[in-house]
Amino acid sequence: MSIEHDLAQGWDADTIRGLGYAVVDLIADYLAALPGQPVFRAVPEEQIASYFSRPVPEEGEDLSAIIEQVRENVLCYPFGNGHPRFWGWVNSPPTLAGILGDAVAAAMNPSCAGGNHAAIHLERQVLGWLKQLVGFPQDAGGLLVGGGSLASLTGLAVARHVHSGCDVRQDGLHAAPRPLAVYVSSETHSAVRKSIELMGLGSRSLRLVPVDDRLRIRADALRHAILEDRARGIQPMAVVATAGTASTGAVDPLSSIADICAEQRVWLHVDGAYGAPAVLSGQYRDELRPLERADSVALDPHKWLGVPVEAGAILVRNESDMRATFRLVPPYLQASGSEDPVHGPPWFSEIGFQQTRGFRALKVWMSLKHFGLRGYARMIERQLELAGLLAEEIRRSTSLQIVGTPSLSIVCFRYLPQESAADRAVLDSFNRVLLRRIQTGGQVFLSGTLVKEEFALRACIVNHRSTPDDVRFAVRHVQEEGQKLASETGLNACV
Ligand SMILES: Cc1ncc(COP(=O)(O)O)c(C=O)c1O
Repeated sequence: MSIEHDLAQGWDADTIRGLGYAVVDLIADYLAALPGQPVFRAVPEEQIASYFSRPVPEEGEDLSAIIEQVRENVLCYPFGNGHPRFWGWVNSPPTLAGILGDAVAAAMNPSCAGGNHAAIHLERQVLGWLKQLVGFPQDAGGLLVGGGSLASLTGLAVARHVHSGCDVRQDGLHAAPRPLAVYVSSETHSAVRKSIELMGLGSRSLRLVPVDDRLRIRADALRHAILEDRARGIQPMAVVATAGTASTGAVDPLSSIADICAEQRVWLHVDGAYGAPAVLSGQYRDELRPLERADSVALDPHKWLGVPVEAGAILVRNESDMRATFRLVPPYLQASGSEDPVHGPPWFSEIGFQQTRGFRALKVWMSLKHFGLRGYARMIERQLELAGLLAEEIRRSTSLQIVGTPSLSIVCFRYLPQESAADRAVLDSFNRVLLRRIQTGGQVFLSGTLVKEEFALRACIVNHRSTPDDVRFAVRHVQEEGQKLASETGLNACV
């Protein structure tokens, strides 16, 4: 379809069908072929120079030609997370329901600031379902946001509003009667520090509470830190507990932390961006149930629920706190909560930062409807089993070693060449090189992390396409690559 055609005739159904079917073919071919493709291929320099560095076109091109270019130049260099052996960072393959939902959402293209249209009601319903998942009351506040980082920023902004001791919106933080402190651990996601910095609290207001040997916040140390701050005239503002850290999957002791927060009247924000959906599993149900006691919870449908990015959620126990933090309605924007059929229910833009907001809810709604809570529970339990199998295979291997304690669906481990076993620095650099080889080799994709300062290969299985064979293949592959690297570097391989 040429630009003249588009401008002159707008949309006609036959044109849309023709091009749309071509795109559906593209998607179908891409997804079906993925398991047989390299997990990851770096975009070659010459491709970046020749194709991805062009100036903005002066003249428009035919859409069908552009679709072909997407096939030839874009789809062949994916991030990798659609592949069954992609276990890097916390990235899942997309659900089919979510893929299709995103296409429809783009076609409708509403602004979800507010109003009385289907997208608003779907988002309210989806948020209600997520509240149910974490045990929040249905009248709690909530918003779909871009991801876990924005969810934590939003939750902590509400905490600051409630606990700063001043009118922070009008007078700013310098009017706070006492300096504020936020309690985290060495394992808390970097988004929390970014949020604290962005909100003007300064990273010095962060207290790194000591962790136990499984990298979970020590409740006794948390209480001690809060009391010590109070005695020094510092106002404890919030505790950030994590339900599944990004590094090792550690789950902080939510119940003890909730007790301390209630007793000390401190805001409890739980970063459940990755781990919160595991509350559906038999294995983690009890450990994660205290999510229901938090003041705010971050939970990312775009992680373990497999909804295509971006889909994060922030839930806040008292919606009025969100409203007090964000509401600002100039005359050119609609008043909320009106009976007028155009205005609809209270506007989302009044309980968060964004004004124009995308129709994120459709892909979440379609995915939740398609799998149901039972389907997701089975999916998550299967992935927990795969992580268990991975840990078991590693323990059985003489050349691999578990690093730290596996938790949720994350397993950290390393290759052990014999001679280097006692030398930490050699072991770390060996495994860093090994990771780079594995990532660029295209067979398996892992990421890396530091566990108690030791470098480890890290697998996070939030991938509904992975199978036990993929796990066994990956273990063999890491062993073989480790062996090869050991012999190249003159280190004896443990076999
Ligand atoms: C525990 C945790 N919190 C926060 C984030 C940040 O989420 P996002 O990347 O969606 O902003 C992540 C990302 O992996 C995470 O695992």
